[in-house]
Amino acid sequence: MRIDVLTLFPAMLDGFLSESILGRARERGQVEVAVHNIRDWATDKHRTTDDRPLGGGAGMVMKCEPIFAAIEAVQTPGCRRIYLTPDGVPFTAARAEALSHESHLVFLSGHYEGIDQRIRDTVIDEELSIGDYVLTNGTLAAAVVIDALARFVPGVLGEEKSLTHESFTRCLLDFPQYTRPATYRGMAAPEVLLSGNHTAIEKWRREQQERKTARLRPDLLSKN
Ligand code: ADE
Repeated sequence: MRIDVLTLFPAMLDGFLSESILGRARERGQVEVAVHNIRDWATDKHRTTDDRPLGGGAGMVMKCEPIFAAIEAVQTPGCRRIYLTPDGVPFTAARAEALSHESHLVFLSGHYEGIDQRIRDTVIDEELSIGDYVLTNGTLAAAVVIDALARFVPGVLGEEKSLTHESFTRCLLDFPQYTRPATYRGMAAPEVLLSGNHTAIEKWRREQQERKTARLRPDLLSKN
């Protein structure tokens, strides 16, 4: 899979792209990511990327020219162009999975006051929000979406099993995990986990998931 990110703040992604699972996926060539500074496509002396809103009002709006040029430079036939915005469709695990099957994704990060609507109307295929709060720009939102979808790209996670068992693929929160030592500072891990009885362990974990979901996210239960 190929991913291009268009942002005014490329350095925000430096550590994110080279660390951990995504870093390894890039080294192995499973996911190819390029980050571009939108300012590189600004043509005026001051390399301007935003301007005052037509009709007046506070703040600045990102201009058409550099963004159209940037998208046209990186897009390929059949690629999917995604704009990160708080007024986009809420991002979910199901969307992450679906996007992991695409061969080329282009992410556009705007700053929070927005981009010229004509960009959204013509060269954007999809708009995503990562939650009901406003970030200063969409770059971290792009990172969140990339991280979540990369996990669904075959071979990126060592153990495929860790995907099928995880929360949200089944609309339940995760069960509690423990590792050795079985007792730490007087706190004993649940005995069932030491029993070797896999049926009992599965049952216990499922109950824990249901209880935790009912307590913290009752809205998820209606989706099962
Ligand atoms: N840009 C600013 N806030 C955002 C959010 N919540 N989701 C996606 N992009 C954003």
